[in-house]
Parts: sequence; C-alpha cells; structure tokens
Amino acid sequence: MDPLRFIQITDTHLFDRAEGTLRGLDTAQSLAAVVAQVRARGSHIDGILATGDLSHDGGTPSYRRLVQLLAPLHAPIYCLPGNHDALGVFACALKGSQVQSGGCLLADNWQLIFLDSALPGAVHGHLRPAEFARLDAALRGHPERHALICLHHQPIPVGSAWLDKLMLDNAAGLFEIVDRHAHVRGILWGHVHQSFDATRNRVRLLASPSTCIQFKPGCADFTLDDQPPGYRWVELHADGNITTDVEWLD
Ligand SMILES: [Fe+2]
Repeated sequence: MDPLRFIQITDTHLFDRAEGTLRGLDTAQSLAAVVAQVRARGSHIDGILATGDLSHDGGTPSYRRLVQLLAPLHAPIYCLPGNHDALGVFACALKGSQVQSGGCLLADNWQLIFLDSALPGAVHGHLRPAEFARLDAALRGHPERHALICLHHQPIPVGSAWLDKLMLDNAAGLFEIVDRHAHVRGILWGHVHQSFDATRNRVRLLASPSTCIQFKPGCADFTLDDQPPGYRWVELHADGNITTDVEWLD
C-alpha cells in the first residue's frame, strides 16, 4: 500500500492587506513561492496540515487568502489555530468542502488528531481539559490505527530559551495521554519557525520551518535565521513508520 502523503504548511502569518510584510518579507508572496515549489515536485498529496499562525492579524481576508493560495495544490486542508489566529474568526473563515478546522481525520489505517493549543491573549500554548478529553477519546476509539497528533505549540523545549518560554505550558498532561496509547507514532507542530526532529519513547517529535521567516536554533534571545521559507512533507506508512523531511525554497 502506498503511504499517505501530507504537506505541512505552518506559520504562514498572512495579513488582511494583500501586501502585508513580516520583518520585510511579503508573507503571501513567500507562501505562493512555497506552493509553487510543492507543485513543481509533482508528488501526490493526500492533505495539507496547516499548523497555526495562519493569519498574522486574525482577519477574515487573511484566511480567505490562505485558502486561495493553497488551492493550486488541489488537496484538502486541515487547520488548527496558533497564538496569532483569532479564534472566533478562525473556524468560520476556514470552512468549506476542502477545508477542515480542528477535529480528526481517519485515512487508511491512520488517525490524525488536530488540537487547539491557543489561549486568547497569550503567546504560549495550553491544552484545555476538553482538548485532553477529546484526544484521549479519539485514541481510545481507534486503538487499531496509528496516530499522528498535530498542534501549534512545541510540547518539548527545542533549545532556544526565549522560544521555550512560549511552549505548551501543560505538556506533561499531553505526554501522560500519549504514554498510555502505544499506537501514537508522532507529534507534529509549528510555532518555532525551524526544523526539529527527535524521538521520545519511539514517538517521533517534529517541528517545521515557517513559509515566511525563520528563527535561528539554539539562541538564548530572539534571533532571526537567514534560512529561506520552507515546509515539511510527511509520509505515513501502513506499518506505522513515518518518513519525513523539510524542504527549503530554492
Ligand atoms: Fe506561534
């Protein structure tokens, strides 16, 4: 059986204004360039995992722009919110036949679970009791499926002090659930604007570059990296293996 193949697009930071820039970079242009490169690679895509900070200013036009910019990939879009997203607008604006906000996806013998770790007014992440309960129920409901958990905030430190102050503040609760379900194969997030790939108790832990600006790894204080925009491809195999890599804009 062919693996499921997903593209992770994260931290697009789109603006309501068409030419909005972040640190001098036009975020809509850089996402368009990333999408063009994904298309040029030509591989089949089963879905796009859009892991938060999709809008920078949280307005409806920025979410509409996201869907428009991803349309050339002809793949369903699975969204979850980050700290920059406006929660009230998010689910309304990201609704449609090809767009899903939150929830779960059952595909082949996998389950993907999309968590909301955004707290209104906060930059760090937090999973509310209802999200923990939903995760546990989803995992208990499908013990026969391999599981990939997606969220915005990092559940473990990535090695930059300033950024790790802004991680998930109750990650122990997440790992308590993960450790009870041996069929969890991976956790995937955004927020850190850099590539990260580690393993904890055989669970793959993955973070990915933004489609706009990057943060330099291993820095005590906020430091931009000179890496170009990027994205991650993820292949989920029937035996539970995950093959994945990050691609940077040429
Ligand atoms: Fe973020």
